[in-house]
Parts: sequence; structure tokens; C-alpha cells
Amino acid sequence: MAITENYHSQWLSLLICALVLLQTRAIVNIPLTFPENAKAMGALCLDGSPPAYHFRKGRQEGQDNWLIYMEGGGWCHSIEECKSRTLDHKGSSKHMMENIHMFLGGILSRNPGINPSEFRNWNIVIMRYCDGSSFTGDVEQPVDNLYFRGKRIFDVITNELLDKGLNDAKEVFLTGTSAGGVSVVLNCDRFHKLLSNTTTKFKCLSDGGYVIHAKNDPKQAQGFESMFKDVVSLHNSTGMLPHTCTEKMKEKPYLCMFPQYVVEDMVTPIFILMLPYDAYQINVTLGHEVYFALRKSFKDHVKLPTPIYQVLKDFRLQFLDALPPCKPSNGMFINNCFGHTEIATITWNIDGNKINNVIDVQAIRDWYFDRKGVNLIEKIDLIKNCTADTYLAS
Ligand SMILES: *[C@@H]1O[C@H](CO)[C@@H](O)[C@H](O)[C@H]1NC(C)=O
Ligand SMILES: *[C@@H]1O[C@H](CO)[C@@H](O)[C@H](O)[C@H]1NC(C)=O
Ligand SMILES: *[C@@H]1O[C@H](CO)[C@@H](O)[C@H](O)[C@H]1NC(C)=O
Repeated sequence: MAITENYHSQWLSLLICALVLLQTRAIVNIPLTFPENAKAMGALCLDGSPPAYHFRKGRQEGQDNWLIYMEGGGWCHSIEECKSRTLDHKGSSKHMMENIHMFLGGILSRNPGINPSEFRNWNIVIMRYCDGSSFTGDVEQPVDNLYFRGKRIFDVITNELLDKGLNDAKEVFLTGTSAGGVSVVLNCDRFHKLLSNTTTKFKCLSDGGYVIHAKNDPKQAQGFESMFKDVVSLHNSTGMLPHTCTEKMKEKPYLCMFPQYVVEDMVTPIFILMLPYDAYQINVTLGHEVYFALRKSFKDHVKLPTPIYQVLKDFRLQFLDALPPCKPSNGMFINNCFGHTEIATITWNIDGNKINNVIDVQAIRDWYFDRKGVNLIEKIDLIKNCTADTYLAS
């Protein structure tokens, strides 16, 4: 019996490998597209190479609809950091095929088993991220051979897409994860204005990008605040940040990199997917010690020290306070998983990723297609292992 099972599972893994390979091939066949006007417009990655995007044509009932996905990957806030990015896909299109496997899953997948949503048949655009500023950089002259041109990259890609059919689209959904989730918040209304066709329906979704300004504690506030300050100064981003926010934050316009100061005044409907126990935010805001302790307790199934648990619980309350006031046109899905981003990872569409019995993909569809209002926030403060569908002992 055991042998048979083993035999079966070997065949099963072989089959899975073959399927993954097939899928990988299918994705790898989506070439990189370099926008035609990039050079003329001076739209360049940090290293001076052209920016790029992937495009997969929609089919069947999805052919007039577009899902645009803005890639994540943190920010660079010093010359040295931006320089080190020129050695990989985060700063150079020369390396962009190396991490293509990251775009296989979740909402970007065509496999109905992985992605049961309508979006799988839509035109898909993956806007690659190689400027380090969430597409806000705007510096005229190169500095130390580095180009800070995030704004031009955004403009040149969106203009090319408009010519390629986006202007006749029925539905457009702008999404992004991590730093790409911040890019969505910062660029959503601007993108909406570019869609001159008034019959087009347009909504945005930010996943794993709603990092908060933890201002209750100056030490905690420091992490993201000082990074955003340096990003905005190095990339000359102020002019690209939403004016509704910079008008309020005259003294500290860089605070407008925090979605919480932008979302309130947005006119486009937006869906916020974020984990109060987001791994990236915990590492930056609460420090590596807290982050490593939490990771260890997950990995080794040991109890989290009580003081650390308390810091995390307090942070969660601060996070909930920083969510935007409820607006019927907006949506939210806030659960207690420990992780980072959902729509294009293994936590997409799994049983552990439910709130009130509603799974993430269902929540997003209900909201995007106006079937019902979605404002789902997990009420308890326990930390969840979503892939195992269990809670950490408190
Ligand atoms: C910074 O951006 C503004 C527009 O927001 C522009 O007028 C100015 O020339 C830029 N500065 C540099 C140094 O490129
Ligand atoms: C707007 O989009 C529709 C398709 O949804 C298309 O038929 C029409 O030509 C577009 N209008 C303009 C002005 O581009
Ligand atoms: C946590 O932060 C430290 C210091 O900034 C960094 O070196 C490390 O890579 C981060 N870890 C993760 C998993 O993000």
C-alpha cells in the first residue's frame, strides 16, 4: 500500500512539474515589450536601459477588458542603493526575464483552478518596476549615471497602451502589490484621467501597499518616514504626488507616499487588501527583532514571547485606526495572516484566506462587479498562518 501511494505521489509530482513547466513556458513566451517612444521621451530605468512591460492578449468575453498589474520591489533612497539595483531587474530591463516566474500565479494566472475569476481572460499588462520610486521620479539630468525617471516610464507605457486598445476598453482594473500597491494609490486618479473614453469602467486595487505611518511612536514612525523622505528627495517626486495630499502636507510632502494620506481624497473607487501583520511593515516599523521572533514562532511552532505579541497587537490597533473612513464605493479585505501580498502569491484563493467565510477572490469580484459592498475586516487579534489555516498560540 505504502509503495503504491509513494508511486502515485511520484507520478503526481512529475505531473505537477510538467504542468508547471508548461505554464512557465506559456508565460515566458510573453515577451517583454519596450515602448516605442521610450528613448525619445527619456523614459529610462535606473541604469539607462529602456523600461518594459509584458502583454498577454485577452480572449473570449475578456477581450475588451484590461487588468494592469504594477510590479513591486521596495524603493531605493540613496545613490548606493539605486546603483545596486542596476545589477538586477529592479533597476535594469537587461535582467527582467530572470524573475518572470513571479508573475505565474493568482489573479494573473489563466488556469481556472488557480484563478476562478473573470480576470483570467482579460488582457493582462505587467508593468515592470525599474525606477525605485513607485513611478514618481522626475529628475532632468542623470546623477552618477543613474536615471530617476519613474514618471516618464509611467507616462510612456500608459500612452502606448491607450493606442493599443486601452482607449476602447470596457473595463479597466489597475492593480499592484507591495511597492506596486503604493504605485497604484499614487497613480490611480492620474491614470483615470488618461482614460478619455467615458464609457470605460475603471477601478483600482492596492495589495500589500497600505503601509502606515505609525505615528503613535516616533521610533516606529521613523522607518518608513525617513525612507520616503529620502526617496522623494532623491527622485524629485514631490510634483508627482497627489496634489490633494501635498496641499495638506506643505511642510512634509513626502508623507504623501503613505496611502493613508491619499486614499481619503481619491475619486476613483479603490480596494485595499492589507495585512495588519504584514511581514514587510513589521520588519521596517517594529524592527527585525520582532520580525525574526514572529518568523521563528511560525517556523518552529513555538510560543511568541508575550511582550512581542503585545507590540504586535498594539500595532494592529494603530493599523486599523489608519484605515480610510468607510466609503461605499471602496472595498476592503483585511485579515490577520502573517505574510506579504496576496493576489499573485500562494495565499490567493485558499481556505485560510477567508473572512466571514468569504475568500479573497470572491470579495474582489463582488466589489469590482458591483454585486455587493465589501468591507471585510477580521475582528479578532490573533495572528494567522494562512497556508495552514491555523492561528498562532497567544
Ligand atoms: C523636479 O521636478 C519639477 C517638476 O515637478 C521640475 O520642474 C524640476 O525641473 C525637477 N528638478 C530637477 C532637478 O530635475
Ligand atoms: C469608447 O469605447 C467603445 C468600446 O467600449 C468604443 O466603441 C468607442 O469607439 C470608444 N470611444 C472613443 C471616443 O474612443
Ligand atoms: C529586514 O530589514 C533588514 C534591515 O533593513 C534587512 O536587511 C532585511 O533584508 C529585512 N528582511 C526582510 C525579510 O525584508
